[in-house]
Amino acid sequence: MKVPERLRPLLEEGLIDSVVRQLMSGKEAMVYVVRCGAETRCAKVYKEATQRSFCQDADYTENRKVKNSRQARAMAKGTRFGREAQEAAWQSAEVDALYRLAAAGVRVPKPINFHDGVLLMELVVDADGDAAPRLNDVAFSADEARTHHATLIGEVVRMLAAGVIHGDLSEFNILLAGDGPVIIDLPQAVDAAGNNHAQRMLLRDVDNLRNFFGRFAPELLATQYGAEIWSLYTRGLLQREAVLTGRFDSVLAPVDVASVLRVVDDARAEEKARLLRMQELP
Ligand SMILES: Nc1ncnc2c1ncn2[C@@H]1O[C@H](COP(=O)(O)OP(=O)(O)OP(=O)(O)O)[C@@H](O)[C@H]1O
Ligand SMILES: [Mg+2]
Repeated sequence: MKVPERLRPLLEEGLIDSVVRQLMSGKEAMVYVVRCGAETRCAKVYKEATQRSFCQDADYTENRKVKNSRQARAMAKGTRFGREAQEAAWQSAEVDALYRLAAAGVRVPKPINFHDGVLLMELVVDADGDAAPRLNDVAFSADEARTHHATLIGEVVRMLAAGVIHGDLSEFNILLAGDGPVIIDLPQAVDAAGNNHAQRMLLRDVDNLRNFFGRFAPELLATQYGAEIWSLYTRGLLQREAVLTGRFDSVLAPVDVASVLRVVDDARAEEKARLLRMQELP
């Protein structure tokens, strides 16, 4: 196909030789299949920030490290320089997360390059070598559902043991490769240690896995892996290869009022963002 404008710089740099086809146009990016010598790869072209709600951005980017204080001040003030810095931080967050997670042994697409707002990475393929489907596009037997659920809980544990929470994990952001599930779409990944919303995001990620695979293996719906994982993590006991039970007995302990209020605030902010998004719809 004709090379899209945003991919030209990569062609000129010799990072890609040609563009095979467009794979998807999502909320945040356009994704293309590209050729690089004998290799077929995936190019993710980030869109501008217009579609993303500020409320959500604020949750995710809280405590995200920026290079210097001028950048931090500008980002807080929302100047043009600040917005550009924020945009760059958002985009490079996905590359950072891919490197970090690959190093932690999590199955993510292998990052190859990040150039001019384009992420070049491994194309995840199915057994026939075609672009892999999303979990949402596949039907599973109860056994398959149990196996993939267990694999992905293991991945969530390895991610958290490496200090990272996906933050938008669901059947739409996991591909089914020939050799099992691959987690994608990480620009919103958060640093577990420095983010007040970490617990809520981790629980939501794990609940999404449970609810999806629970459609095929209903006994999964009764599991409580999220609470179990978070409890081990906060007590400093989460190990990469932790053996979990899926059960969690909450202990009657003094209530942490501040964290309850934070959850209430979060729910309010999320509802506000949802209403805003609905207003923006044509
Ligand atoms: N490395 C990859 N290999 C194969 N397919 C990919 C890869 N990365 C992304 N895709 C395809 O492109 C789609 C969109 O990618 P991604 O989820 O990263 O972007 P997005 O803009 O956040 O999309 P969405 O709004 O749909 O979540 C994925 O659902 C998947 O089908
Ligand atoms: Mg996605």
